[in-house]
Amino acid sequence: MKLHGTMSVKNRNLYIGGVKCEKIVKKYSTPLYIFDETLIRQNCREYVNYFKVKENNNKVAYAGKAFLPMYMCKLIKEENLYLDVVSGGELYTAYKSQFSMKNILFHGNNKTINEIEMGIKLGVGIFVVDNFYELDLIEEVCKRYNTTQDIYFRITPGIEAHTHEYIKTGQIDSKFGFALTNGDLYEALEKVKVYKNIKLIGLHAHIGSQIFEVDPYMDAVDIMMNLVKKIKENYNIQIEEIDLGGGIGVYYTKHDKPKTIKEFCESIINRVEKSCKKLKINKPILIIEPGRSIVANAGSTLYTIGSIKDIKDIRTYVSVDGGMTDNIRPSLYQAGYECGVINKIGLDKINQVTVAGKCCESGDILITDTDIMEIQSGDILITTSTGAYGYSMSSNYNKIPKPAVVFVKDGKSKLICKRQSYKDLISLEL
Ligand code: LLP
Repeated sequence: MKLHGTMSVKNRNLYIGGVKCEKIVKKYSTPLYIFDETLIRQNCREYVNYFKVKENNNKVAYAGKAFLPMYMCKLIKEENLYLDVVSGGELYTAYKSQFSMKNILFHGNNKTINEIEMGIKLGVGIFVVDNFYELDLIEEVCKRYNTTQDIYFRITPGIEAHTHEYIKTGQIDSKFGFALTNGDLYEALEKVKVYKNIKLIGLHAHIGSQIFEVDPYMDAVDIMMNLVKKIKENYNIQIEEIDLGGGIGVYYTKHDKPKTIKEFCESIINRVEKSCKKLKINKPILIIEPGRSIVANAGSTLYTIGSIKDIKDIRTYVSVDGGMTDNIRPSLYQAGYECGVINKIGLDKINQVTVAGKCCESGDILITDTDIMEIQSGDILITTSTGAYGYSMSSNYNKIPKPAVVFVKDGKSKLICKRQSYKDLISLEL
């Protein structure tokens, strides 16, 4: 198990943020999400630094879909990041956290009329317009409220990135964005030229998620920069901002070899500079939208081991008090994770086991065939790198309450989301 961020080991005991995991479990119980605040802030700062936020006015927008309790909104505001939201619910969370509405980018391939009205009324900075339906609605709502709205067009650049089928978005048959090949983008440009209440200021492309290579980003840069030139020449619209989406891959298991934030940012910035020189155009403001690479490695999940079922010569199932309800990623994307026992770190891994969740589903498996130290019921198992798309994709399947979320930093812990109670589970039922 790789130690991330401030994780450390003393006498086989795991500490995160200077807090002993055993102590956290005593205080908050399991299952529990635990986040290393220092690592999140460090990732934010690396993005701000290497993406040249101060020097070039570039913007880093945290993709809230990865993990967005109100505490995260406050944290990323303090770290000078913008925020990418994809629903009225995420927008509401940001609003209630006093996040500046003008620093919000509103995404989504099917924003409802209510969401569009909400965004316009709250004064969201940018709508990332995905399709004609949305374009027309925004113009109509803006007219009604006698206001104007800045937008980007989301384009489908036609790039195939190497990642899981479900999290690819740049390929031509994607549900997202205006395609380049069939003329949709050009039709949208014609429309926006006559729309009085909409100002097109940027283009956006997101090619997928959990991507390790920089090459597809280089291709996206080239496509976008050529478009900037073409749009100026053919439509006399100056594209001032280019948003390259998120998607930077992270370490889950030893098979993953991610680039650093520095390497990614520098590659993008250098390529844009080269491209601008070649095309003789002004350098646009650049935006990126990292979600996973800010929070994934900072989050871990703590579980209590219950039943251990040994099927001789076949498999040993180790069941924990959570599962696909708090981490759907293994079932949905065959995602891999690492694990350990919080007071046995570094002991020889002598057994091979499969870590199972407690849901009534054979597919509720967290880790298939992992090597582990000697374990027994009652041990506390930690799965690392569960910070992105764990809590945000959690469910109440089998009416299992959602775990609490605790942040740790400098030897202190802070509860930022309460554990759901049974009462909460039926609170909406009439
Ligand atoms: N920007 C846009 C427009 C996106 O659609 C996404 C992710 C991001 C930024 C952030 O991507 P990131 O840096 O987090 O990779 N539930 C899946 C991931 C879905 C990603 C959806 N869009 C998972 O658990 O792997």
